[in-house]
Amino acid sequence: MKWTGLNELREKYLAFFESKEHLRLPSFSLVPQGDKSILLINAGMTPMKKYFTGEVTPPKKRVTTCQKCIRTPDIENVGKTARHGTYFEMLGNFSFGDYFKHEATAWAWEFFTKVLEIPEELLYVSVYLEDDEAYDIWTKEVGVDPSHMVRFGKEDNFWEHGAGPCGPCSEIYFDRGPDKGCGSPDCKVGCECDRFIEVWNLVFTQFENDGNNNYTRLANPNIDTGMGLERLACIMQDVDNLFEVDTVQNIMKHIIDISGIEYHKDAKKDISLRVITDHIRSTTFMVGDGVLPSNSGRGYVLRRLLRRAARHGRLIGIDRPFLAEVCETVIKENANAYPNLVEKQDYIKKVIAMEEESFYKTIDSGLGLLNEMMANSKDNVLSGEDAFKLQDTFGFPIDLTKEIVAENNMTVDEDSFKTLVEEARMKAKSVKRDGAETDWRNSGVSFKDIAKTEFTGYTENNTNATVVALVSDGERKDFVESGDAILVLDKTSFYAESGGQVGDTGVITIGDSTFEVTNTTKDADGVVLHHGTLVGDAVKVGDTVVTVYNEEK
Ligand code: SER
Repeated sequence: MKWTGLNELREKYLAFFESKEHLRLPSFSLVPQGDKSILLINAGMTPMKKYFTGEVTPPKKRVTTCQKCIRTPDIENVGKTARHGTYFEMLGNFSFGDYFKHEATAWAWEFFTKVLEIPEELLYVSVYLEDDEAYDIWTKEVGVDPSHMVRFGKEDNFWEHGAGPCGPCSEIYFDRGPDKGCGSPDCKVGCECDRFIEVWNLVFTQFENDGNNNYTRLANPNIDTGMGLERLACIMQDVDNLFEVDTVQNIMKHIIDISGIEYHKDAKKDISLRVITDHIRSTTFMVGDGVLPSNSGRGYVLRRLLRRAARHGRLIGIDRPFLAEVCETVIKENANAYPNLVEKQDYIKKVIAMEEESFYKTIDSGLGLLNEMMANSKDNVLSGEDAFKLQDTFGFPIDLTKEIVAENNMTVDEDSFKTLVEEARMKAKSVKRDGAETDWRNSGVSFKDIAKTEFTGYTENNTNATVVALVSDGERKDFVESGDAILVLDKTSFYAESGGQVGDTGVITIGDSTFEVTNTTKDADGVVLHHGTLVGDAVKVGDTVVTVYNEEK
């Protein structure tokens, strides 16, 4: 097996499937489009759900992608082990009612054994218990030795999410050798230890579940495969984990250069190096895809990751904002595959630097106060009032406070914290409502020349619209450079406050710039006013924009 860099592996995979007549599509955005079920894209197939269900016709029946993915169920474990990470890329080849098991298995095997030259004796394959068809194809057509085949039940080898298309799957495992194993005589594929690692999941989407677990066979079954690029790189580079992979290592090296510490010298500092390395990868890509730090939804995930990374910078002695600098290395390492990062470099650095700097101003006093609070706490519980104060005054996301408190073997009274947050939110809403009324009525700004805004939010989010008026510093303007402003569009998916209903918040993107909407109001003639802050390049009347309201309220 030849050592292969992560970027080269990505290219080899996509080119291989192009040679099998697949259309190579760029990665979809990390922000799901028209899918309320998830905050961030977490697998290669998720942005293509509608191609699978047939709701939308794919550009070609064979598609291959390398998809940016973020998974955040266990952020607090990232860094503690070398296994966890929030950001990864997923390679995939997809058939929408075109080829099926014969081709998917044969090509997967060809890619592994011929293109990457992985020795067959190091590969194992699992099939779903009842999938004799797949077992026969693997053993009789592809030629896998039956001693390298295993059968697993529904939990491991059947892929489904409630009602809809679903099916059995096959997973390909790589044997890292007995010295990586647990040593148990029972150690085999499926063992939790580090010896056999699952690399590639081939899903044979052949049934339709009616929601009551009645399965009918699909006339045109699909193929959905997924393989973690970093995991494949670990195998091809013969390294133990994601943080040792070439491109990821270069990011860590940059942090090491800034901090002046070494990796593998001190277990606690290693945690910090891994936290920062992982989080700067995910946050660079999130900002690149238009996410802005905020206190809810995706914006909260971004804020939490950036602030967690900033705090770990502190823990390894970095006494200045540094994340925007490290983000340059993330962009450099990914420049070929993700040219939009290079185009947006200045914007991404600006957003990260602004968030880091605003946290930086309060981090020391916040940490000092938290130490005092913990020392004065009773029964090892930090009160909800203390946690709220840290969030409200010092910008400590609750999860960061919880993590620091847990490091000191304490917990947070989350119930009272939540009550305080809710109270503050209600108060802010009523203030905002009062403010918004006067905002436009008393400002002397008139929108009489503007037609009533068309509302599209009943049927869609993501509306393409045109800027028809702008207000900043209390005056109508032709363009606004940055900062607080009001944006008026010809149409919008944002719901304006009325009859006690709170106005929508969300994001309006204008090319590379982002307008974060903090409230939406309407004037007496039905002109919708988006109140918020502009980050990035100037916006002018006539610009085209995309409106995306926050779905999680
Ligand atoms: N959907 C499957 C997975 O996420 C295969 O792509 O593993």
